[in-house]
Amino acid sequence: MSHSTQESTAPAGGGVAQKAGGRGPAPRWLPAAGIAVWLLLAFAFIVMFVPVYFTGDPSGARVQLSDYFPWHYGFLVAHVAFGLVAMATAPFQVWPRFRNRYPALHRVMGRLHIFAGVLPAGLMALVITPFAAGPVGNAFGAVLWLGATIMGFRRVRQRRYTEHRRWMIYSFALCMQIIEGRIMVLTIPLLPGFTPDRMPLLLETASWIGILLNLLIAQWWLERTAGVRVTPVARRRETIAADRP
Ligand code: HEM
Repeated sequence: MSHSTQESTAPAGGGVAQKAGGRGPAPRWLPAAGIAVWLLLAFAFIVMFVPVYFTGDPSGARVQLSDYFPWHYGFLVAHVAFGLVAMATAPFQVWPRFRNRYPALHRVMGRLHIFAGVLPAGLMALVITPFAAGPVGNAFGAVLWLGATIMGFRRVRQRRYTEHRRWMIYSFALCMQIIEGRIMVLTIPLLPGFTPDRMPLLLETASWIGILLNLLIAQWWLERTAGVRVTPVARRRETIAADRP
């Protein structure tokens, strides 16, 4: 990304979003607490699901590999590697305090997040989706993820920072929905009465629930913080400097 963003209503260091409609500011701790939860979930997901794809041994793959597509494993490993970059960088990108304190890092990590994360991981997801157990929800999720991220990048290039923030929050939600999907796939089969023949339906449903749930949370946050003005950190610093005697 070529510019960092800042909620200009936040004090130095950021973290507080000004709400519209006279509801008062969101609590200072809310963004940090949310990001901490997502970092924890992302860490758990990465530790549990990712390492097996870096052994070079296709028999370690937990997903069913296609007999007809010899490159399936290669694309899956590439998807996981790029997805790892996207997931590891995403929480820092949307964390207001981190953006405000380290604007240069926000720009570098933003480029990494998009070009070495979301774009290749999303495209690889589209390649392997036809062989997946829940193909429709996954394809839908990949298209939305790519679309939201491309829109976020276009808006920051156009210096439309408020819209950049909005699209990147959707992109973050779509990146992280994969975690809820995995939680459902791990826990629902433990319920009494669940039979293995329901697994394909569960895999398909889990994607849809993950996508909708996270987009709803993203929309709630955007409305909760509606009215924040978003300007690049550098410009705000110039304004502050100009105000000084
Ligand atoms: C919208 C975003 C994403 C979509 C649509 C997507 C889609 C997919 C698909 C279709 C598969 C193959 C599933 C199968 O064959 O049953 C898969 C597997 C996988 N993806 Fe993603 N993915 C996304 C984001 C991510 C991210 C951000 C990561 C982070 C590392 C990731 C890590 C993985 C892993 C580890 C697997 C193997 C699953 C397992 O071993 O159970 N994905 N993904």
